[in-house]
Amino acid sequence: MSKEAKLELDGKSFTLPMVEGTEGERAVDIACLRNYTSCITLDDGYANTGSCLSKITFIDGEKGILRYRGIPIEELAEKSTFVETAYLIIYGHLPTRAELRQFSDLLTANANLHEDMKYHFEGFPSSAHPMAILSAMINASSCFDPGLMKMGNAGRFDLLAARLISQVRTIAAFSYRKSRGLPIIYPKSAYKYTANFLHMMFSEPYDDYEIKPEVVRALDLIFLLHADHEQNCSTATVRMVASSQANMFACAAAGVCALWGPLHGGANQAVVEMLEEIHREGDDGSKFITAAKDKVSGKRLMGFGHRVYKHYDPRAKIIKQACDSLLNVLQISDPLLDIAKKLEESALKDPYFVERKLYPNVDFYSGIIMRAIGIPMEMFPVIFAIGRMPGWIANYKEIAEDPKARIYRPRQIYVGPTLTHFMPLHKRK
Ligand code: ACO
Repeated sequence: MSKEAKLELDGKSFTLPMVEGTEGERAVDIACLRNYTSCITLDDGYANTGSCLSKITFIDGEKGILRYRGIPIEELAEKSTFVETAYLIIYGHLPTRAELRQFSDLLTANANLHEDMKYHFEGFPSSAHPMAILSAMINASSCFDPGLMKMGNAGRFDLLAARLISQVRTIAAFSYRKSRGLPIIYPKSAYKYTANFLHMMFSEPYDDYEIKPEVVRALDLIFLLHADHEQNCSTATVRMVASSQANMFACAAAGVCALWGPLHGGANQAVVEMLEEIHREGDDGSKFITAAKDKVSGKRLMGFGHRVYKHYDPRAKIIKQACDSLLNVLQISDPLLDIAKKLEESALKDPYFVERKLYPNVDFYSGIIMRAIGIPMEMFPVIFAIGRMPGWIANYKEIAEDPKARIYRPRQIYVGPTLTHFMPLHKRK
């Protein structure tokens, strides 16, 4: 394999170094390109741009492979929990029994918010989207311990990471309760991570929510499957903000905003809205598929397609199975699941989707599980954010610990007006 790439430009030849990853992925290192040639590269939407070297997550989109720290997602989904996987993603290895206990204890000890945070919740209208509350409250919580927040505060990293992972779940549950005008339910130290979240969401002061292990397992799995996904829109945002040496909470709050959009973390909500629309209109899915293929309609088959996967998203396979088994256990018959399965079947046979390699992604079935659990639709992207927190923290850590880290600052090709002189107001038409 060649260690260098040759570039011919304006009759001159330039040599650019090649970089190879541990899974054989290759890149041309163009860091010196502008110095050599005065040219930059242009890659709209960064589809072909590697922005960093990372040891966290490996994806092979052509083969449908996803691994956290080398371990296949299928093995983690079957054998691990969200908390253990969070540790793996952040610290780079599976925890020993003692490490896991210490990490879990730290999460439990940091589940509560500063009591004054309650006043912040009261400032939001009940119509506020929980992603807006989540992002704002993550930032707000950083104000209560500013000394903790400096990047490079290595001794405090474990505490900050645990606090963020634990508190994002508390903030999420509080924002749901607030939006429904319900009293806040505090975390219980006896419950593990996901059970505690369900408790804070659904218990009442006079009546504890019945924690069903199948429901805990299904939601824990959703968190685990979302825990990292290399340089997606929100993680790249977290790294971008971290590169300016902003604190971990500010980076995570920015990640929440990036995740909010319907083309990213908002897609799970958009999928259920689409399925409901199809159901309401009595369509068997075929009219919607026709509309999704027509660019003028402005519709897309939500939960289908992925920038990296040109094959079945491995998380979608796992979620589809989990969806079937949870609905079975809870004896729920959801017409939206039938519509989703029909849509999938038709799309996978349709040349439009086949030629463009559009397969179901992680969001296609996750919303149906969340509906079955009783999580309202506007909370779906919040669930995604809770799950993605370990990935954001691990990516933040890579930047914080890199002595050579530089601020992210892409260039552009300017296509606006050439030199134009200022026209005084009285002469303008
Ligand atoms: N329905 C219909 N057509 C689609 C879809 C879809 N879901 N996704 C892509 N296409 C078409 C595009 O119109 C385009 O067609 P063209 O070549 O004729 O112009 C082609 O497939 C390529 O699509 P792009 O938009 O260029 O693909 P990109 O990589 O930029 O976008 C994305 C990926 C945003 C995920 C896209 O597939 C999409 O919008 N899907 C629906 C939203 C969704 O499910 N998002 C969740 C993603 S996973 C996650 O964030 C966890």
